[in-house]
Amino acid sequence: MTSTLTSTASPRAATADRPLPRALARMLSLDDFEAAARKRLPRPIFGYVAGAAEDNQSLRGNRQAFADYSFSPRVLVDVSRRTQQTELFGRRYASPFGIAPMGISALSAYRGDIVLARAARAQGIPAILSGTSLIPLEDVIREAPGTWFQAYLPGDPQRIDALVERARRAGYETLVLTVDIPVSANRENNVRTGFSTPLKPSLRLAWDGLTRPRWLAGTFLRTLLAHGMPHFENSFATRGAPIVSSSVLRDFSARDHLSWEHVARIRRQWPGTLIIKGILHPQDAALARQHGADGIIVSNHGGRQLDGAISPLRALPGVVAAAGGMTVMMDSGVRRGSDVLKALALGASFVFVGRPFNYAAAVGGEAGVSHAIGLLRAEVDRNMAMLGINHVREMQAELLTREYPRAQ
Ligand code: GLV
Repeated sequence: MTSTLTSTASPRAATADRPLPRALARMLSLDDFEAAARKRLPRPIFGYVAGAAEDNQSLRGNRQAFADYSFSPRVLVDVSRRTQQTELFGRRYASPFGIAPMGISALSAYRGDIVLARAARAQGIPAILSGTSLIPLEDVIREAPGTWFQAYLPGDPQRIDALVERARRAGYETLVLTVDIPVSANRENNVRTGFSTPLKPSLRLAWDGLTRPRWLAGTFLRTLLAHGMPHFENSFATRGAPIVSSSVLRDFSARDHLSWEHVARIRRQWPGTLIIKGILHPQDAALARQHGADGIIVSNHGGRQLDGAISPLRALPGVVAAAGGMTVMMDSGVRRGSDVLKALALGASFVFVGRPFNYAAAVGGEAGVSHAIGLLRAEVDRNMAMLGINHVREMQAELLTREYPRAQ
């Protein structure tokens, strides 16, 4: 990774031997994909991905948290041997970041879950398939071995056992249990843009689709023709509701029953790596370890669940201190290589990035996601050099200074 990455670290050359398509060559940072995806996707679909909960306090806080820290770089260090390769659960990844699970990605891009997983695999990073996805988990892992699976589990033991067993049989080795969704969040933004699951057929929805012809032909109609109406395939062991329906209700039953006892049960059943996602409180980090988790993802769900929940970056030091050496990862608000490095300095072993990769899939399919990974990787590499470090392990808190916001 060291010298290869260094020599290919310019954004244009980051991902391909061939020149990038023009639309991708204009994408110079992860945030650039958002504006491009807004033009490509129907309003309810873009709104679902971009939106958060209630007043977006956590969404904004996630970004602000990174700005509260500045680097104190070291100079005149020989950084010519730098590498961002990272060991995680016995595997070596090419970068210290992966793709967070995102629901209904197959509406953002044709075969979106496969696009994300394949790009991640080709670039040597992990992707996590969402339990709210529209492509059977078996198909995704066939295309991209090594993908992780994220489940929202109902509190009903039979259904838990059946889904966990299905994921195991399909060949998944890493199960991520998301635990910050005992009930659905208050996503007023979805109501305002006309998004619901399932989507309800209406003139407005038809108009939203017709005004995005490239998406209509290239993603939605292409999916209908090749694979039929998408359904929620991975919420349970059996097929769930279709994505468009005037009458079907999605089954959100009994998630508020889920407790640490269920985690203990899943731990007994799951032979692979078990990760709990959605931890923010230090005591929950300690409980996760006591219940046999191999790792946790400190996350406020990209600001999409409890509005006002602390940003994961701010929660990290307390959580790491309580985690007793268990692997701590984080997501929510990471957009730059500098953000990745700040999270590592505060004790994360790895970070996950969501929305930008979804937008990259919408804008450029697998090449778009690869390009986005290459951009973030180049930023990490460049910043490691300017910080004076050769290995991500050297990214310690003494390279950060906390800026206290001045009173206005
Ligand atoms: C699903 O996880 C969502 O946040 O919408």
